[in-house]
Amino acid sequence: MFQSKILGLGKYVPEQVVTNHDLSKLMETSDEWIQERTGIEERRHIKKGDGNSTAIMGLKAAKQAIERADIDKDDIELIVFATLSPDYYFPGCGVQIQEMLGIKTCPALDVRNQCSGFVYGISVADQYIKTGMYKNVLVIGSENHSGGLDMTTRSRHVSVIFGDGAGAALLSRSDDDSGILSTHLHAQGEYIDELSLRGPSTEMWVPEIIAKNPQEDIPYFPKMNGQLVFKNAVVRFSEVIQEGLEFNNLKKEDIDMLIPHQANLRISQFIQKKLRLEDSQVHNNIQKYGNTTAASIPIALTEAWEEGKIKKGDLVVLAAFGSGFTWGSVILRW
Ligand code: ACO
Repeated sequence: MFQSKILGLGKYVPEQVVTNHDLSKLMETSDEWIQERTGIEERRHIKKGDGNSTAIMGLKAAKQAIERADIDKDDIELIVFATLSPDYYFPGCGVQIQEMLGIKTCPALDVRNQCSGFVYGISVADQYIKTGMYKNVLVIGSENHSGGLDMTTRSRHVSVIFGDGAGAALLSRSDDDSGILSTHLHAQGEYIDELSLRGPSTEMWVPEIIAKNPQEDIPYFPKMNGQLVFKNAVVRFSEVIQEGLEFNNLKKEDIDMLIPHQANLRISQFIQKKLRLEDSQVHNNIQKYGNTTAASIPIALTEAWEEGKIKKGDLVVLAAFGSGFTWGSVILRW
């Protein structure tokens, strides 16, 4: 068995900054409410005409990760793309990236696991590298939320949370002791409707959506049972981090850096307290970017690394929870 490691990281966020005050012009909300409940101060939104899409933002993050990994793009043997907001209904963004990078026929796989998408993607990449099937795997998380949110008071508890952006990691076979020690994944489909977007889908196809009275049901906007999500998130985050630590005979005191999915600052703070970590041991940036779902962990990880917060030998923990419900963790030695 081989071990995989992250060789290069990249991120991209659109230029347009949308503050809480900006949102309060579109719906009944306030900077105070948003900051108190979520910690978010501003987020980035794609601006019409700025040339960005989910795949294009993913490409920008991927190019940076490839450059930093210092490998030839033609040596990438698999692309894994995590998103809930693909450019096309089908095919997925993975093949778009392959074409945009100009890689001939390497496989491209899309992961549909929302906030846990990047952790699921890393786990997939890790398995392929471990078995020796592939040596270099590109994992991308990217989201274009802004185009699909209901920016009216009706959905204010959802729409103020989300932002656009992308992050990427180039995973490669490790040649030393550093790398991914374990990944643990979970899902619980009984909560499918508590955080979801029904249509368009084969169950809720376009003519049916058009025929619906939007006042009665809004299947084409995300819906969320915020309090249930919160309650489940704090439990599952803690459980899956503990599961990963125990698997590796490690303790919470061994964690040097925790990168939690940026769901809500209050959730991150809850986990930090439970693990008794110092502020310097947890990297949060939801204040600036909002919740970027599959992109949140790679953006935060890249930022922490760029700021010099992650050093060689550090024990780094990635953890996610989201729609499905799905959740997972990655334990790695930098
Ligand atoms: N601005 C102002 N008021 C608002 C807003 C808003 N944006 N949204 C809701 N309200 C109002 C409600 O209408 C309600 O008013 P009422 O008491 O007069 O009826 C009041 O605020 C409380 O509403 P709740 O929905 O109960 O608000 P809550 O305190 O639960 O906070 C929140 C909502 C922030 C979504 C919270 O439940 C939460 O953080 N849940 C976790 C969900 C999460 O993090 N999701 C991220 C995406 S999923 C993921 O990444 C895991």
